[in-house]
Amino acid sequence: MPRAMPVPPAKTTHTVFAVFEDDVAALAVALKPAQAAFLTARGFAARPGNLIVLPHDDGTLHAWFGLGPRKAYNPLTFRGLPGQLPKGVWTLHVDAALDLHAIHVAWALGAYAFTRYKEAPKALEAVLDDSALDKAEKLAVAAEAAAHALARDMVNTPANDMGPAEIEAEARKVAEANGARITVISGDALLKANYPAVHAVGRAAAPGREPRFVEIEWDAPGAPDAPLVVLVGKGVAFDTGGLDIKPSSGMGLMKKDMGGAAHALALGQWIMETGLEVRLRVLIPAVENAISGGAMRPSDVIPSRAGPTIEIGNTDAEGRLILADALARAAEFEPQLTLDFATLTGAARVALGPEVVPFYCDDEDIVRRLEVSSIARQDPLWRMPLWSGYRDALDSDIADLRNDPAGWAQAGSVTAALFLQRFAPKTGAWVHFDLYAWNPRGRPGWPVGAEAQTLRAVYGLIRDFV
Ligand code: BES
Ligand code: ZN
Ligand code: ZN
Repeated sequence: MPRAMPVPPAKTTHTVFAVFEDDVAALAVALKPAQAAFLTARGFAARPGNLIVLPHDDGTLHAWFGLGPRKAYNPLTFRGLPGQLPKGVWTLHVDAALDLHAIHVAWALGAYAFTRYKEAPKALEAVLDDSALDKAEKLAVAAEAAAHALARDMVNTPANDMGPAEIEAEARKVAEANGARITVISGDALLKANYPAVHAVGRAAAPGREPRFVEIEWDAPGAPDAPLVVLVGKGVAFDTGGLDIKPSSGMGLMKKDMGGAAHALALGQWIMETGLEVRLRVLIPAVENAISGGAMRPSDVIPSRAGPTIEIGNTDAEGRLILADALARAAEFEPQLTLDFATLTGAARVALGPEVVPFYCDDEDIVRRLEVSSIARQDPLWRMPLWSGYRDALDSDIADLRNDPAGWAQAGSVTAALFLQRFAPKTGAWVHFDLYAWNPRGRPGWPVGAEAQTLRAVYGLIRDFV
């Protein structure tokens, strides 16, 4: 005999209480004995990200979510919540002192999933009630979350579906949605337009996957004197290493070598959607570092847009080549601020690991502001030195510089930054981010796969810059 379905509760919104370690004992006193006993039996101590779900008298659920010690609070802990909560609409109860914007953004980051290739993607079942936010706050959260999702989607998409042409298509979508101008120069036209290094890196790719240079221009309405900000992103759709081919261990993740382009575009979208008062330029050299008879060779010497000739000591140091042309283009705008994003070196990981992004900048004021913004938005960055003592490592016997630094300098992320510095605009400040753009360790809210880094810190910097 089939049993009758249980009667659904009259009230359907569940409640989640975010609690600090410091407060568990005091809060537990107010619980019903059965609930308190359950909490104790499960050893719930509000460690960051821990969740316990309790039944409530009215038929709804009451969840307790751990935030760890109050003095070490990080709103990103909320990334771990959406994937752990049971199905339903959830109302959040938090200490009134906590920033709701950061919490709602963290929820969105934790709710992200890359489902493009799944026949039956697992839908997220928990929904966060956002009625505590006003309309402007909802839009701000949505723009921030969308920027992070765009960067992650682009990086997660493999190179067969995210080649140079698809990077261009993503840029066109962003430009069109925001009323920005977009110009694209592709294939052999790059030579005529004086992007020789972009062409040299990308020319070995198959038809349809030709190299291109994408330029988005957007001026905040009614602000003709707003500062000119250029975002540059390394868009290597796939990095085989070229003729200096990578071993399979090093090639496996190289679909993410367009992470810089994804970040520049995502940040551009966020800036345009929220109308920051800047004159914005987004520059994306999009190429595939492929292998064919036409590929650039180790020992080739190529010209660059700005003039200096470059000896190709290693075809796998391709990112700095395309960025040399892109930074030279950036300089032509005489910007007040230039930021470049690139998955540029393996050495950056050795220095700081996957979660902390090294950045390079010679402008002490911008460095301080960026550090403050990074801490305020829990977006970890670490300043590295543009140590001039290592500049000679880029000397070439027959060209103006070489793309593979001499071994004695050892600091691969630093010498790559020094290479870029030769081409960076001399007007205004320049900041270079050596990204990883990937989360290698899976846990609730942080799936293995693409990670958006530096977006919040840089957005904060630019917002305060204007
Ligand atoms: N895309 C890689 C850098 C990279 C590797 C980033 C792994 C993230 C994870 C870049 O094009 C590269 O291969 N750089 C070389 C430069 C070297 C040949 C001078 C590197 O870092 O080993
Ligand atoms: Zn490479
Ligand atoms: Zn690369």
